[in-house]
Amino acid sequence: MRSLLFVPGDSEKKLDKGFATGADVVIVDLEDSVAPDRKPAAREISAEFVAARRGAAAPRIYVRINDLDSGMADADLAAVIAARPDGVMLPKCASSADLARLSVKLRVHEAEAGLADGATSIIAIMTETARGLLAASSYLQPMPRLAGLTWGAEDLSADIGARQTRDAAGRYTDVFRLARAMTLLAATATESAAIDTVYVDFRDLAGLAAECAEAERDGFTAKMAIHPAQVPVINSAFTPSLESVEEARALIAAFAEAGNPGVVGIGGKMFDRPHLRRAERLLARAGPIV
Ligand code: COA
Ligand code: MG
Repeated sequence: MRSLLFVPGDSEKKLDKGFATGADVVIVDLEDSVAPDRKPAAREISAEFVAARRGAAAPRIYVRINDLDSGMADADLAAVIAARPDGVMLPKCASSADLARLSVKLRVHEAEAGLADGATSIIAIMTETARGLLAASSYLQPMPRLAGLTWGAEDLSADIGARQTRDAAGRYTDVFRLARAMTLLAATATESAAIDTVYVDFRDLAGLAAECAEAERDGFTAKMAIHPAQVPVINSAFTPSLESVEEARALIAAFAEAGNPGVVGIGGKMFDRPHLRRAERLLARAGPIV
């Protein structure tokens, strides 16, 4: 999972188009990109879309429902779970307790639809409120269903009353950098995918590429997109290069040849267990892609 493309759930045209963009995941959105009076139509259109497209080799399909305190989440789940999306994206997640709340709801809908318990995965947006960000330390171990964690800047800025999310030089200001860092740490602790937030200026592909490169450097393995043009840029940034795959293979082989010690020297440089773990993770990520 490298790219996750948001598509408004009330737009049949965009749903069709989004499915053919090469995105690894299509996120059918029932939340912010759908106006309140369009929610019922969006639920119907989304369920039909998921039912028609499920089982295709790619992309995977997630549905972003409305948050658990919106009063709309139950109707969202009732409309879409029987259509069998691969997963649900939970916005404005207040803490890992919300994941448990959502899991209980999913279990009921799965049972009603004759699906296996646990058939639906979860990706959570964990920094959209101050409360959610402060609860980052509640994500401490792997949780059933949790496939990934991501962060959002726009809703957080509204919550705290920040007028901008970036400074004059275009860098995120402190609170948003904190949100980004906490997401990375929480994803690591829960052994789920660390997914970087959207880049809203969708005509600026050079800016997107630079932000992808920074995210990949820091440990994110995927990024969300809002426009089809962003998908190839993201896919390319998060596909491990052949060179890095070869390096990782050589490192793993060197440890094995040396009898799996704590540390090896290769070409005059020291490599120890953290390097080995990083190499193994890179290969696991490259597996389905390269
Ligand atoms: N998924 C699928 N198709 C999309 C798309 C998306 N996210 N964004 C744009 N397209 C389509 C357009 O419909 C258009 O199709 P057409 O050529 O057949 O008319 C084509 O791609 C080019 O779009 P463009 O004219 O460049 O952009 P736009 O002005 O139509 O749309 C947005 C701009 C921002 C409204 C649109 O990209 C969008 O809806 N993005 C997703 C928003 C979202 O889900 N936000 C919630 C998460 S933050
Ligand atoms: Mg939002």
